[in-house]
Amino acid sequence: MTGTTPRGAASEQAAAQWVRGMFGRIAPRYDLLNHLLSFNLDKRWRARTVERVAEILDRPDAQVLDLCCGTGDVLLALERRANRPLLASDFCHPMLVEARRKIGGRGFRSPVFEADALSLLLADASLDLITVAFGFRNLANYQHGLEEMLRVLKPGGVAAILEFSQPPNPAFRAFYGFFSTSVLPRVGGLISGSPDAYSYLPESIRKFPGAEQLAQEMRQAGFSQVEFERMTAGAVALHLGYK
Ligand SMILES: C[S@@+](CC[C@H](N)C(=O)[O-])C[C@H]1O[C@@H](n2cnc3c(N)ncnc32)[C@H](O)[C@@H]1O
Repeated sequence: MTGTTPRGAASEQAAAQWVRGMFGRIAPRYDLLNHLLSFNLDKRWRARTVERVAEILDRPDAQVLDLCCGTGDVLLALERRANRPLLASDFCHPMLVEARRKIGGRGFRSPVFEADALSLLLADASLDLITVAFGFRNLANYQHGLEEMLRVLKPGGVAAILEFSQPPNPAFRAFYGFFSTSVLPRVGGLISGSPDAYSYLPESIRKFPGAEQLAQEMRQAGFSQVEFERMTAGAVALHLGYK
């Protein structure tokens, strides 16, 4: 398992740079497109993620990081549940600008900081929970991403990875494939003004490991009690793993 491979990127560094630049270009339209292209299902996927980790959020001393936070939708849902400030990070400045605007504008308090998920400036064994929604797929090296999560999690800490996946039903997979390769790049490209971003999206989903394989990779990296649940007929999967 290596990591994302945008067209033309010849190294991990080039892939990361491309991903950061691409998210920077679409940041102002990211939320609109997210809700539109997922038929608002993204809200349900994020809500379910929060529900699965609610027990940790309810502990007043639990240290929580939303990794690859983007414009902050998961972070806001986590903070709403925890009712206290949490942490969030991303390596794309324009996405963090959007996140800050939403956090402040809606009366939330969580700080966000700029950091590469492959090299977090956090102490070993300092977190109880890491959530990462639709960010993991974009990492330049998945194994390093998992190792970094394990490094910063406390023993017993949990990683929750919400990501696009491969629907197991062949008929739904065919429909989903058509939607993501034909409809999504056209609508996404038109509204965002960045067609390359929305042709990268289906390509990165197609290349990303299926749910069983990701679970296996998590176990190999050192996570225990790894489990996953599929949502929306397997278009999305939420993986949980313990350190
Ligand atoms: C599809 S967006 C998801 C944002 C948000 N979590 C959500 O659910 O809407 C992916 C985010 O991952 C971030 N990202 C990708 N690779 C990263 C890395 N190596 N380090 C930090 N952030 C990264 C991107 O900048 C982008 O904001």
